[in-house]
Amino acid sequence: MDILRIIKTRRSIRKYRDKSIADKLIAKILEAGRWAPSGLNNQPWRFMIVQNMVRKNQLAVFSKYSRIIKDSAALILVFADKRVIYNRDKDLMAIGASIQNMLLAACSLGIGACWLGEILSKKKKYRTMYKYQFTWN
Ligand SMILES: Cc1cc2nc3c(=O)[nH]c(=O)nc-3n(C[C@H](O)[C@H](O)[C@H](O)COP(=O)(O)O)c2cc1C
Repeated sequence: MDILRIIKTRRSIRKYRDKSIADKLIAKILEAGRWAPSGLNNQPWRFMIVQNMVRKNQLAVFSKYSRIIKDSAALILVFADKRVIYNRDKDLMAIGASIQNMLLAACSLGIGACWLGEILSKKKKYRTMYKYQFTWN
């Protein structure tokens, strides 16, 4: 599919088949995210893949989209690395571009995906969950 067709075909998908996603496909989606443009080319995004049901349940607790979280084959958590951020607005724009790249890549691979921004309304709770895993959190 050419890029304009993918852009127009992509939709937020919130119901999923009970099927895992091959690691190589997840790697392709992440690669699309990494190729996004960023101010000063600082690439402030960091990704974490969650496929484990226990972890998904922990994340689902705080979200009104808990069903989407639990039913998904994989979650890509997207973080901003505070160590490299130079301009909050521009860095968040870059991270948005990275997420859009991943959504388009998923669509081109036949994988349904949805951006869940709602999770940010509970970001303090999630930060507590992850703060021991990341030096930049
Ligand atoms: C920044 C952002 C946050 C979003 N947050 C959510 C969300 O929390 N839950 C959800 O179901 N969809 C979320 N969406 C998806 C939008 O609802 C969706 O993109 C919009 O309705 C247009 O539909 P489409 O993606 O199928 O074209 C979000 C999209 C963006 C760009």
